[in-house]
Amino acid sequence: MCGIVGYVGPQQAQGVVIEGLRRLEYRGYDSAGIALVHDEQLVTDKRAGKLANLEKALAEQPLPASTTGIGHTRWATHGAPTDRNAHPHLGRDGRVAVIHNGIIENFAELRAELESAGHEMRSDTDTEVAAHLLEQEVEDGADLTTAMQRVCRRLTGAFTLVAVDAAEPDRVVAARRNSPLVVGLGDGENFLGSDVAAFIEHTREALELGQDQVVTLTRDGVAVSTFEGEAAEGKPYHVDWDLSAAEKGGFDWFMRKEIFEQPHAVADALLGRRDADGKLQLDEVRMSVDELRSIDKIIIVGCGTAFYAGLVAKYAIEHWTRIPCEVELSHEFRYRDPILTRTTLVVAISQSGETADTLMAIRHAREQHSKVLAICNTNGSTIPRESDAVIYTHAGPEIGVASTKGFTTQLIANYLLGLYLAQVRGSMFGDEIAKVTTELEGMPAAVQRVLDGADELYALAGRMRDARSVLFLGRHAGYPVALEGALKLKELAYLHAEGFAAGELKHGPIALIEPGLPVFCVVPPQGRDFLHDKMVSAIQEIRARGARTIVLAEEDDESVAAYADEMLRLPRVSTLLQPLLAVLPLQLFACELATQLGHDVDQPRNLAKSVTVE
Ligand code: AGP
Repeated sequence: MCGIVGYVGPQQAQGVVIEGLRRLEYRGYDSAGIALVHDEQLVTDKRAGKLANLEKALAEQPLPASTTGIGHTRWATHGAPTDRNAHPHLGRDGRVAVIHNGIIENFAELRAELESAGHEMRSDTDTEVAAHLLEQEVEDGADLTTAMQRVCRRLTGAFTLVAVDAAEPDRVVAARRNSPLVVGLGDGENFLGSDVAAFIEHTREALELGQDQVVTLTRDGVAVSTFEGEAAEGKPYHVDWDLSAAEKGGFDWFMRKEIFEQPHAVADALLGRRDADGKLQLDEVRMSVDELRSIDKIIIVGCGTAFYAGLVAKYAIEHWTRIPCEVELSHEFRYRDPILTRTTLVVAISQSGETADTLMAIRHAREQHSKVLAICNTNGSTIPRESDAVIYTHAGPEIGVASTKGFTTQLIANYLLGLYLAQVRGSMFGDEIAKVTTELEGMPAAVQRVLDGADELYALAGRMRDARSVLFLGRHAGYPVALEGALKLKELAYLHAEGFAAGELKHGPIALIEPGLPVFCVVPPQGRDFLHDKMVSAIQEIRARGARTIVLAEEDDESVAAYADEMLRLPRVSTLLQPLLAVLPLQLFACELATQLGHDVDQPRNLAKSVTVE
């Protein structure tokens, strides 16, 4: 997510803002910018790349002194990471500057409205429409607070907006909806931050803001209101974290923080991907209907967790589109001389967008004139840049080496691709597609419900500290979940862990079963008997041989309880979407076990976040 800093008070705003942005660098970003109010003018500078680029520019061309300012580190969503797309963005007349975190879902229609009124947009961002709309309001006589209230009532999506008006030099106004923003309360000065790390060295007195609220900062005070302009209250609290904890939002690891960000990340991955009529719209796919209809084979490529996301996707995409779908490890695909034609769609899944094995795979595919679609979390990274089309997962920066929200948002993006192909090709009726997309929209809440049971997994990890080997079983779309759960344990707890298709047990792996061996078993939803009952049989077989069965099953599934040493309950969900939920307890378990073993969860031994070598 983007980093946001605001300041008004007696200090030089540039120094406070830049230092605050530096404290937020851990969040990951690809450009940085600042806007100050000086002598009833706005002065700004913004640069692609790291904060050091902006600091170098400011050293070469210093901005004039100012005691009111805002600053931003951008994690690109709409528009590549360039100087012109960096924040802040200004209104047409340069009177209002805005910085933004989140996604303005209806920005396209607002942009069209502004352009038809003669506004010329200078960037590809959704943010810029907010700057033009706010400026229109203040130029029509509203103060910035009223302008913010009016504009926020017109926006849909998730956003934090922070703005300054050259005509109101000692005021910073901000608003939030489903996006982080916190106020720092100083003595004769006040601060804003996307988290407390932005201002913790100045004050530990903070104010938590509620949903759909506007906050107005001056030197002398802070006023909170609703989007409708009614007075409201924030919740004051004292920050007792140290800076390191503040950067992780109070969590001990970035990975644990990212596990708990998944309700938000899954919601963001779904944002803006249905039009006003409820039909799927994946504008960024940038492939014509004819091209999409001509596809006669899909090959999904990826590595590690991304590969497992592809394995889940295969079940969904083939079921919905009836297009043959293969899934391959990028490094195997690249060198096996695959059969590729102009009607093959290669889908490259990569959180970082820089994995060399996957990059080489798509280069090979394009040499064979196949179309390539990237599913990626990092805007402007190499793999999407070298692809014909892209679906961004909008998970926000994933700092922990072990992928968590990267995986669940990759699943969302693959589900959306499958449903979109089905919509374009007519392989599903509209009401069938709507049924699945409606269930998807309930997933953030279902993900939250699973995470609310985290303590159960932490206790289980404590009981399994001495485990030396752990197996994972799954069936159908649960099989890739078993593989992903095993990978999490390998890379975090440095344990032997192995995932199997449950049907494969009797073909060899059951020889591994011995008394006390822990086996996680992902049980499919009860709706598809042939899958559910066969999974129950597999659990009976290993239990009869002494395995310690840790069973993940639907909350009302009593058929398997008799064979479970440990029972982990999941909300009811359809078979193809169950991986979104079943993976969560496995993430929590691996993170906690590694923590209890004293490992570095964020930087596990021998691993890198992005493997940029073949
Ligand atoms: C997963 O926890 C690992 N970090 C690793 O398997 C990772 O998924 C793989 O290297 C692919 O990375 P990418 O998604 O950035 O391409």
